[in-house]
Amino acid sequence: MVHHLRAAGTGFVLDARGPGVPVIVHWGGDLGALSGAELAVLADSAVPAIPPSSVDIPLRLSLLPTAMEGWSGRPGLTGFRVGDGTRPLDLRLDLVRPAGQLALAVLLTDAAAGLDLRTDLELTTQGVLRVRHTLTNTGGSAFELGSLDVTLPVPDRAAELLDFTGLWSHERRPQRGILGQGVWSRESRHGRPGHDDAFLTIAGTPGFGFRAGEVWATHLAWSGDKHTWAERSPLGAATLGSGELLAPGEVSLAAGESYSSPWTVAVYSAAGLDGLSARLHPWIRSWSTLRAAGAAGDPAGRPVVLNTWEAVYFDHDLPTLSRLAEVAARVGVERFVLDDGWFTGRSDDRRALGDWFVDPATWPEGLHPLIDHVLGAGLDFGLWVEPEMVSLDSDLARRHPDWVLGTDGSPTWRFQRVLDLDNPDAFAWLFARLDALLTEYPISYLKWDHNRDLLAGSAHRQTAALYRLIDAVRAAHPQVEIESCASGGARIDLGILERVDRVWTSDTNDPLERQLIQRYTGVLVPPEYLGGHLGAATAHTTGRTADLGFRLATALFGSAGIEWNLTEASEAELDAIADWVARYKALRPLLHSGTVVHADPSDPALELHGVVSADRSTGVFAYVALAAARAALPAPLRFPGLDPDRSYRVAPLTLGGAPRTVQDAPPGWLAAGGITLPGSVLAVIGLPAPLLSPEQAALYTVDLVPAPH
Ligand code: DGJ
Repeated sequence: MVHHLRAAGTGFVLDARGPGVPVIVHWGGDLGALSGAELAVLADSAVPAIPPSSVDIPLRLSLLPTAMEGWSGRPGLTGFRVGDGTRPLDLRLDLVRPAGQLALAVLLTDAAAGLDLRTDLELTTQGVLRVRHTLTNTGGSAFELGSLDVTLPVPDRAAELLDFTGLWSHERRPQRGILGQGVWSRESRHGRPGHDDAFLTIAGTPGFGFRAGEVWATHLAWSGDKHTWAERSPLGAATLGSGELLAPGEVSLAAGESYSSPWTVAVYSAAGLDGLSARLHPWIRSWSTLRAAGAAGDPAGRPVVLNTWEAVYFDHDLPTLSRLAEVAARVGVERFVLDDGWFTGRSDDRRALGDWFVDPATWPEGLHPLIDHVLGAGLDFGLWVEPEMVSLDSDLARRHPDWVLGTDGSPTWRFQRVLDLDNPDAFAWLFARLDALLTEYPISYLKWDHNRDLLAGSAHRQTAALYRLIDAVRAAHPQVEIESCASGGARIDLGILERVDRVWTSDTNDPLERQLIQRYTGVLVPPEYLGGHLGAATAHTTGRTADLGFRLATALFGSAGIEWNLTEASEAELDAIADWVARYKALRPLLHSGTVVHADPSDPALELHGVVSADRSTGVFAYVALAAARAALPAPLRFPGLDPDRSYRVAPLTLGGAPRTVQDAPPGWLAAGGITLPGSVLAVIGLPAPLLSPEQAALYTVDLVPAPH
């Protein structure tokens, strides 16, 4: 039978008429309703010619491409059985089982090879395709798995490629190229995705942008080692592939054992990168695991955070932190997060990880006095932990050297090593410590950090154990929210996101860096997950100094917080911050449930982005000058995402002082304090832009004007 999955403008057609592995006929735009007969004709019509000097069967991309089908690109499965190393795989279709309206389970067997394969395919109601393979060893000896990957076709017109790379505090740097013949492969061997994670592999029609072009994107929902690639075969087929990157011998399937690949998440959009977000964000928001305040539509919203890291670093004492909590409460902060430095002997980053006991020297009465003070000021309390790590200079490492991954010669990283979570004793001990802390103290939130690459042990087993640990903590303490942090944004993926409520987007609070990091992380991750903090005027990571207004406008679009020693802020600054917090709270339901939109800039220095409510009645936008404009009169502000047939009032929103400009006079509509125009005019012609100085942002509210009766 030919199967057709359709949802939210996306279509997927699978020719599962056998006898071999089903063929992917289509993944892309919706084809409309098709009868069974029409689908059969479609599948037949997709059979290509046989070129000279090739296999004598038509080359069609199956769900698991292998040499048996004449596929000479990256295979879907590699592995061997000792003594049977070169045997080609010959999977035969057993059954396709519909699993609900929009899901299929494809069951295949290669009896001679002793392998069963199950492929789960699911198209969510938001139009997001998920694919995963499960391989079972039905033979009598071990099967050594090399790779089990998902490969999806993209059409010839997807000739341009975008993915990401980066560094610590400079995550999600975009890189573009052509999808030429050969393989463009990205591999993570960090034991976490890494700051240089490819994040999304996006193929699209030439020149695609945020609002225009057809794009096909894949992401692997996995927090360990992985490879993702784009490939164009000289035979013509172009594909996107992804899977876990397994080390030799890492997955050895004994008779009867199975391995499931992580989910490959695949999204198509006919309307550029914003179209990807328009499918991904509602899907992520729909997850039933999401339990934190601020889930879409929750008016309470994600609490505004004050994080102590850049405020005091390791310098903890009760009077200073109590005073910080008081000032935080004064400006409207809702959550106080005690970062690194609270546990026994942790005076700097060279020691004590693993000794998860409150330091009696700094806290003779435990954390109770501080937490009482924080709660008394009306805030809830969060605590930093880095459970997967251990300092060699710690009681834990001295007591249990066998729990530490690596050998004596293995390098430390930030003076620390990794705890073997796959060791049941280490796992149980760690869970018990976290459980004890969460039981003794009224902790609402854990900032769960991870500050080094693995470089030893099995990334596969470590990642699986991490998921088990987070799941166990969540099950025992369902009210506790978790933020995932990995030296900033080195572990942001849909595997971890399923288990946490927030991610620390980057260690940089420099607004200029943050603009780009948030813009591109936000293609995949909805803004309410993306921690963004107001930092000190001079950023600790770059030494660059930014105006308060620019810092506030940047931190507004996410899960907002503060990471600055507010006891050193002036009265005027505190007033401006309080005003910003109040505004953020009022805008929070919109910011955390709306549609993320970006205008495609003609000048890369000037960017307009915003969030528009689902019913398109209201929006908030930021016009950002990253650098000096290249024209004296820049392109007009064209507001995307509005209803073309209704009228809106566009008005400036000033937070932390008006943005600096290089204009002698503002555009007329701004001099008048705002303007009312139809959405069509705002989108197509736009409004003259103010002439912002570099590193400035101007905010605008856009509100529907009721139609006159
Ligand atoms: C790295 C994190 O990304 C920072 O925010 C901070 O929590 C430090 N670790 C603490 O050591």
